[in-house]
Amino acid sequence: MSMDFSSSDIVSEICRLSDDMYAHGWNERNSGNISRFVSEEELRPYGSELEPKRKIELTTPFPALAGKSFLITGTLKYIRNVSRSPKTTLGLMRICEGGREADLLWGFEDGGRPTSETTMHLGAYLERSAIDSRQKYVIHCHPASVILLSEILPCDEKIISQALWKVMNECIVIFPEGVGALDWMISSSDGIGIESAPKFRDFRALIWAMHGITAVGDTADDAYGLIECIDKAADIYVRLMSVDTGYRRLLTPDELRLIVKSFGLRVREDWLE
Ligand code: 13P
Ligand code: ZN
Repeated sequence: MSMDFSSSDIVSEICRLSDDMYAHGWNERNSGNISRFVSEEELRPYGSELEPKRKIELTTPFPALAGKSFLITGTLKYIRNVSRSPKTTLGLMRICEGGREADLLWGFEDGGRPTSETTMHLGAYLERSAIDSRQKYVIHCHPASVILLSEILPCDEKIISQALWKVMNECIVIFPEGVGALDWMISSSDGIGIESAPKFRDFRALIWAMHGITAVGDTADDAYGLIECIDKAADIYVRLMSVDTGYRRLLTPDELRLIVKSFGLRVREDWLE
């Protein structure tokens, strides 16, 4: 007898992640979306339950992902509802030969479709997995702190990364490669997905100006923890810049270099100025 996919650890993990993201206030209304690569080996115990139910058209073809399966949130679904109703808010899809469509294997039971940011999710997975074979999660959300940061700093990866590194000791240890940034573009478009994907070769987190952030990771903890850390540092930076006591202490380039040395990190030298 095959097992019930709804009760799988894979679904429970994405439910817990959704609840934690919502608790942070990162996902008002239908904002944000999540995808998780699921290997054929992980799907094997669920057998006939995962027969194709219907086809889903992809707006950008991903032939290189043919045969790969993703558990992904639905467009216009609320992250706060994922754990209450996984079978309608989530769908498991396997990309078909040619990459123009996918088979829906489970979920989206009310006729739903994958997130409007699917091109970004699949593109991010494809680019990141080329340099990290364990890549699994792509998480997108709208933390106020990150949106604010993008509104008071130029859209410059070096400037944004330095701002975050300098306000909180752990930042350079957690994201020594820095944070990617993309200036404002129309959301939910293939364009933003296509522009974003290659950024995940250099970065694990990407800020979209006036919109939010996306992180990739091998585990839910990796991707979620990275956003948590960036959210906290962005919040500190924005609050720090909004008070003027006549005194301001930030980590200096020399102190950052000491952290880099003591943790054996690889950081672009010209970002430590
Ligand atoms: P979806 O509801 O299509 O997932 O879109 C939400 C979002 O955050 C767009 O950037
Ligand atoms: Zn968004």
